Amino acid sequence: MAELPEEFNCTITNWEYIYGLCRDVADEVRRDEFEPEVVVALARGGWFAGRCLCDFLGLDDLTSLKMEHYVGTAQKTGEPTVRYPMPEGSVEGKDVLVIDDIADTGGSISRAEAYVEQRDAGEVRTATLQLLDTSEFEPDYVGERLAEWAWVVYPWNFIEDMVDLLSGVMEKADQESYTADELRHYLAEYHDVKRIEMEIAQPNRLPEVLAEMERRGVIEGAGPGEYRLAE
Ligand code: ADE
Repeated sequence: MAELPEEFNCTITNWEYIYGLCRDVADEVRRDEFEPEVVVALARGGWFAGRCLCDFLGLDDLTSLKMEHYVGTAQKTGEPTVRYPMPEGSVEGKDVLVIDDIADTGGSISRAEAYVEQRDAGEVRTATLQLLDTSEFEPDYVGERLAEWAWVVYPWNFIEDMVDLLSGVMEKADQESYTADELRHYLAEYHDVKRIEMEIAQPNRLPEVLAEMERRGVIEGAGPGEYRLAE
């Protein structure tokens, strides 16, 4: 998320919604009569979807592939590369479904597909829960197409993303300190995250995120109910 501009729209999701997208992908795979023998879930965003797909499709073979966009100190290479390869024999001769949470540029899932194919898999197909129109890659199965680019905050990394978003907001707004309400105001202004939307998707989470930011030393208390970025 560090590479994004200061203002961009975010969509907060929850487990129920994402589970529904997993079910939609599984329905598509079944309708297509594709019967993968193994699911390759891209780490870390594809893990929840990969596990749910195994359940929906009746598979017990789930393996993982971690793609990485950067080498060394935040040096962009353009093409994502494989960080942790798959164990020997995990896909050889088997029909494979490669799954990730979202295709944004499409780089990760397309590289992953090529990697699995090179490992002498049988038929290899791809799926993502969500597809942005910026993607140059079209997965075989898609849970949902998003008409407008947004940063999607998934339930499995809600705290990670909110820490980044709130730190960014504090830096940009450049106030001495912030109340929780002021932070909500800036989340709406800079990221289109409205209070009600956030409370419906992830109720009562802001105090938890702020407490965690304090514990991690990202922010510090600045008087009762006020926070500022830590030095
Ligand atoms: N990973 C890459 N692009 C993303 C996006 N738009 N939202 C959430 N996670 C992403």
